[in-house]
Amino acid sequence: MKNITVAITGASGSIYAQRLLHYLDESDAVGCVNLLLSPLGVTVIREELDLPLAGTKAADVELLLGRPSEKIKLLPVKDVGATIASGSYPSDGMIIVPCSMGTLGHIAAGISRDLIHRAADVSLKERRKLILVVRETPFNSIHLENMLRVERAGALVMPAAPGFYHKPQTITELVDHLVFRMLAHLDVPHPKDTVWPGRRHELQE
Ligand SMILES: Cc1cc2nc3c(=O)[nH]c(=O)nc-3n(C[C@H](O)[C@H](O)[C@H](O)COP(=O)(O)O)c2cc1C
Repeated sequence: MKNITVAITGASGSIYAQRLLHYLDESDAVGCVNLLLSPLGVTVIREELDLPLAGTKAADVELLLGRPSEKIKLLPVKDVGATIASGSYPSDGMIIVPCSMGTLGHIAAGISRDLIHRAADVSLKERRKLILVVRETPFNSIHLENMLRVERAGALVMPAAPGFYHKPQTITELVDHLVFRMLAHLDVPHPKDTVWPGRRHELQE
């Protein structure tokens, strides 16, 4: 069973994290999820999802998920001595969703100021899966260079840029399509096929 780290930072798009946690919690392939919330991540969750998170309490998981979870454990983000701060901890991958330009910059520069930066740094040094669901618009050249830098160090940069070709009718459908791509990259089976079946309409001459 997989052991996954999920970090939520202060970029827009906390609903992606909420939906991802929902599917990870439901999945038989996942045994444990270590959850990290940056202080600004908590601010954005409060703003976007209207949830009164404290940012430090186990009850936050229940608020985010809408139900209690046996699998998802909230770790204190300042505790750089936690298990996931060590390469010896058997993690199957880490995803930062959404990932702010601030967190991206810390990872790109190798500066570990909190457990999110440290766990990401460890993922790279141990050659483990690290997915950054970055979100900002527009990007400046520093953002773009940082993305290239982390990609070259082994991370997967997956912009929070949803597709529309599956014709989503609701925000949940729009969000879930990208969340299913995240699950695929985490090697966690997901409920819907996101493989594009090819063009339905041939071009007319
Ligand atoms: C409501 C709100 C939305 C924000 N959206 C973004 C965003 O989309 N992308 C981004 O890079 N920063 C965004 N920020 C700014 C970050 O939260 C800020 O740079 C913060 O220092 C990031 O810290 P963290 O990475 O530790 O969470 C937003 C802030 C707020 C309050």
